[in-house]
Amino acid sequence: MAERLAEPSTREASRFLKALSGETQKTPPVWLMRQAGRYLPEYRELRARAGGFLDLCYTPDFATEVTLQPIRRFDLDAAILFSDILVVPHALGQNVRFVEGEGPRLDPVTSLGEFKRLRETIDLAMLSPVYETVSRVRSELSQNKALIGFCGAPYTVATYMVAGRGGDEQAPARLLAYREPETFQALMDMLVEASAAHLVAQLKAGADAVQIFDSWSGDLPPSEFERWSTAPIKALCDKVRAEVPDAKIIAFARGAGTKLGAFARAIPAQGFGIGTSEDPAAARAAVPSHIALQGAVDPIALVAGGPALDRAVDAVLDALSGFPLILNLGHGVRQQTPPEHVAQLVARVRSAG
Ligand code: CP3
Repeated sequence: MAERLAEPSTREASRFLKALSGETQKTPPVWLMRQAGRYLPEYRELRARAGGFLDLCYTPDFATEVTLQPIRRFDLDAAILFSDILVVPHALGQNVRFVEGEGPRLDPVTSLGEFKRLRETIDLAMLSPVYETVSRVRSELSQNKALIGFCGAPYTVATYMVAGRGGDEQAPARLLAYREPETFQALMDMLVEASAAHLVAQLKAGADAVQIFDSWSGDLPPSEFERWSTAPIKALCDKVRAEVPDAKIIAFARGAGTKLGAFARAIPAQGFGIGTSEDPAAARAAVPSHIALQGAVDPIALVAGGPALDRAVDAVLDALSGFPLILNLGHGVRQQTPPEHVAQLVARVRSAG
């Protein structure tokens, strides 16, 4: 226990946690959303041995290794737990599977009746391999690297639960929210509870910070955004804080754009993500100066590499330096990304200091 208590002070040395404490650094920390995955040959090799994608997520030996692969290769400042946002509906009793080459498929929940057939609370025992992965990764990572846990925001997870798939199919969830707001609210409430329990378990297992991914709420008009993105994420953060008072949180409502200012004022997080299409200088002006911004290099510039990638990195550094910054992409790494381009991005960021 004494050893456990001694850890946070040494971990404060990480550039990533310094940024979330409001420090401005000459060399900002860098990590990338989807930094583990199919663009890495060592991932593809392990994935072929593991069986399905969910088997990979639920097998601590495999998940630990995959989480650490990009850290070894690129010396990034933070590792992100290898898992998926859809383990939450899975642990609520929804049938979730990943179809090769197509993505996630769920048995859709489109009515109050179907919704009532799910569990009322998350099955944390089912997710115990995920928490074991968190503690193993933390013990294998050096102290100057942070470990990020995560969950999907209630709205984004609901879009998959209601449509049964990803892609451009967020319309079914929006339709349900307009037609049956009470049903949709009940689904949100359940996801707030389940996601809070999942984040708390990751923090207690050793995650240094957690990120909440709201990948699809940016498409909502402002009043709907306030109701289905801001309010549930605020409730989620409050619940996490009630159990882990010093929890470090990054909230990422991709594409929030001009809605970011109100979102950041409402939500008690130490960092906010910004997406590729958003103006980083406008985002910086909209968010209090001691709060970190994270983003927002175009993942397609990372595919391109060369001078275009250097320019894309420099543009983000120019707009966001002088304030707490975590350099990242505006969305996840694409599968066709040459790994050398990630090395180029890291070198560019490190040489900026
Ligand atoms: O960032 C990381 O490296 C950590 C792991 C991680 C994954 N998914 C692994 C994954 C994280 C943080 C996620 C988040 C996630 N998952 C989001 C939010 C971020 C975003 O991208 O908008 C969403 C919407 C999902 C749901 C999901 N999972 C989709 C739509 C897909 C299919 C698309 C695809 O790229 O295959 C997945 C599958 C998935 N999740 C893979 C990985 C590495 C690919 C699985 C494989 O190996 O086949």
